Amino acid sequence: MSTAARRKIIVSLALVGGLAASLILGPRADAQRNAEKKSSRRQQPQNRQPASGPDILKEEPTNTSEARPMAGGKPLPDKAKVMERQMKMLNERYDLSGRTDPEVTMSGGRKHVPVGPTARLKSGVTWESLAEMSADEIREKDLFPYTPLWHPLQEVGGMVFPEVQTKVVEGLERVDVGFDIPEAYLPEFPPPLFLMTRPDLGDVTHGKLITLQNFESMFQDVLTPFQMEGLRLLLQKTTAQRHNLTLDRSTDIPVEGVSCLDCHVNGHTTGQFHLTPDVRPQSERFRLDTVSLRGVFAQNRFGSKRDIRSLEQFSETEENSAYFDGDISLAERKGARKFTPREQMAMAHFQNIIDFPPAPKLDNLGRLDHSKATEAEIRGEAVFTKHCASCHPAPIYTDNIAHDLKVERFYKNVGSTSMGKPGRAEGAIKTFVLRGIKDSPPYLHDGRLLTLEDTVEFFNIILGLKLTAQDKTDLVAFMRVL
Ligand code: HEC
Ligand code: HEC
Repeated sequence: MSTAARRKIIVSLALVGGLAASLILGPRADAQRNAEKKSSRRQQPQNRQPASGPDILKEEPTNTSEARPMAGGKPLPDKAKVMERQMKMLNERYDLSGRTDPEVTMSGGRKHVPVGPTARLKSGVTWESLAEMSADEIREKDLFPYTPLWHPLQEVGGMVFPEVQTKVVEGLERVDVGFDIPEAYLPEFPPPLFLMTRPDLGDVTHGKLITLQNFESMFQDVLTPFQMEGLRLLLQKTTAQRHNLTLDRSTDIPVEGVSCLDCHVNGHTTGQFHLTPDVRPQSERFRLDTVSLRGVFAQNRFGSKRDIRSLEQFSETEENSAYFDGDISLAERKGARKFTPREQMAMAHFQNIIDFPPAPKLDNLGRLDHSKATEAEIRGEAVFTKHCASCHPAPIYTDNIAHDLKVERFYKNVGSTSMGKPGRAEGAIKTFVLRGIKDSPPYLHDGRLLTLEDTVEFFNIILGLKLTAQDKTDLVAFMRVL
């Protein structure tokens, strides 16, 4: 029916209704009603919102008739400019030449491990002279090379995926921000997957990316139907803050969302990052590098700050916390999915069988087997036992608690940070597992340490260890066999 025709019918109905009312109520009641109508019109509030209400997801940029994606009702920033700003910052902070070790590969054997240290020092400063200085001196002279690393689009945040992945997986690429850390400093893509139920099989993916299309054939006769169900749920997309079907998104066209294994690729990670959901305001939320799910069965706390005690619970809360920045109302509006307890259990069943990569030089207690180790690895073990093992004990090299390393002792501007400034106090963070560590650069919660050599320089400074050059290379040699 045309609008005009519909309006005609409504008007005639109103006339008939009005006539009937005045017949029943009489002229006095009619006059009173008219007076009420007039006064109510006078009292109408000024500047009313349109009938649909203040839904920020409905505002559109006014310069176009076509609905475009946006962030919080504002047009998205120019990606090229955002990335230029970020790459300038990264190149100032790091030597990004992508040097790798020709002898040592990650567990899949397809990628050589990157070599550092990559952080640039101010002119006249050496790693040795820096390690001699006190925290106060380093802070006052502004010499600390490892200040927090910011999300390239801190204002908007959201998940960012590396180019190796966006090239082959549809719907993850964003129009407002790209990936910043060069490929050489990321895990191999796709990473191998080892199962603790079938160590005899080695990499069960045979170098392939697990997808919704291939997982059934890849895992037949390897998984139970319940584990298979869990894997399916981990592979299915659910809407996320910047990847969804509304206009408030960062993808060119509306997308179904992001799957758990889009970040935890093949149960590991390939460097995807976002902002911590646990901190406010937006400018203070630190960057979070995706952690591996390898060996979660041997851990008892999950999340760097959330201290979640079970995988079932983590799978449930990830949807409301990380996927939607901890914003429960936007999660509802954008169609967050709520997993049932049975689904969470299935997801946990699969996550619980993801194993660490094989470590042929470790014995059955997870310690270095000296009959298989090199001199450097044995010396490295001694340095590690002295300075690192209290927080990173065998067999999986974590104490399963959180520590405040108080890194903010080394940089200024504590308490007021925003993008481009040195940073602020970040508080206690979970001790990450070091088993299989050579497979997961970049390091630390925000990925600010691009190589294992950088982690050694970092801990040498913040723990005041004064390691020799020999100690440092030995320590790296040891961590590579974990
Ligand atoms: C942006 C990519 C991303 C997606 C998508 C994602 N995760 Fe995560 N995941 C992370 C990051 C980053 C962390 C570290 C969180 C922290 O430190 O608080 C993490 C942590 C975890 C942990 C805790 C591991 C540990 O060692 O503490 C589990 C378990 C986990 N994710 C499961 C899931 C599940 C299940 C899903 C799907 C519902 C999912 N993740 C989706 C990035 C992602
Ligand atoms: C006081 C406890 C403590 C000591 C001692 C310690 N660490 Fe750690 N380590 C941590 C914590 C906590 C983190 C996570 C910090 C963060 O992400 O902000 C961490 C992170 C790391 C990481 C990065 C892991 C990842 O997945 O990104 C490496 C590598 C590492 N430590 C190596 C060492 C080495 C080598 C030493 C000795 C020289 C050492 N640690 C001493 C507590 C400790």
